[in-house]
Amino acid sequence: MTQDKLDALKAEIIAKNICPELAATATQLVMGDGNPDADIVFIGEAPGKNEDEQGLPFVGAAGKFLNEMLAAAGMTRGDVYITNIVKYRPPNNRDPSLEEKAAFLPYLLRQLEIINPKAIITLGRHSMEYFLPDARISQIHGHAVRKKVIYHDKAPHELLIIPLYHPAAALYNGSMRTVLIDDFLQVPKIIATSKP
Ligand code: URA
Repeated sequence: MTQDKLDALKAEIIAKNICPELAATATQLVMGDGNPDADIVFIGEAPGKNEDEQGLPFVGAAGKFLNEMLAAAGMTRGDVYITNIVKYRPPNNRDPSLEEKAAFLPYLLRQLEIINPKAIITLGRHSMEYFLPDARISQIHGHAVRKKVIYHDKAPHELLIIPLYHPAAALYNGSMRTVLIDDFLQVPKIIATSKP
């Protein structure tokens, strides 16, 4: 079962002591939430305080906004899978460092390989940079890009990457909020009309 494989990957991250400083200050590792067999995976940055306490991604104010946008687009958390690049809360919600993001990259790719989605929605600059390193979020938000992703030594696997603004950044910024909601509402159409 897909969830068993994700649980095994989580156990491996803990056993290999990835980012020990973060692990030492975090309450727990936050692996992901939603449907492990989903066609769409949302990728945020790192857990915050609420996520660290509850062990689930996007359960604070940004998560409430994400849930509202999912509902407006006709989806629930059970239709998609939600995760972060970095799986432990950085102290005081600082940005994850380059080293921390790099340490978690192989595990994020393995997580995606297990879920095998058709589309990835990056939330914010940090997760966008993984897949579209040369893109600017202000120019590319809401536009789907086909990208070949290599899951360890396998042949390149084509995914649809849809970069969106981060819900936390847009939450209290009126114009960004409108842009994010507009982009979000296009997501089902973008995915339905994209070639397999
Ligand atoms: N912001 C993120 O990037 N991820 C979360 O899980 C919560 C807030």
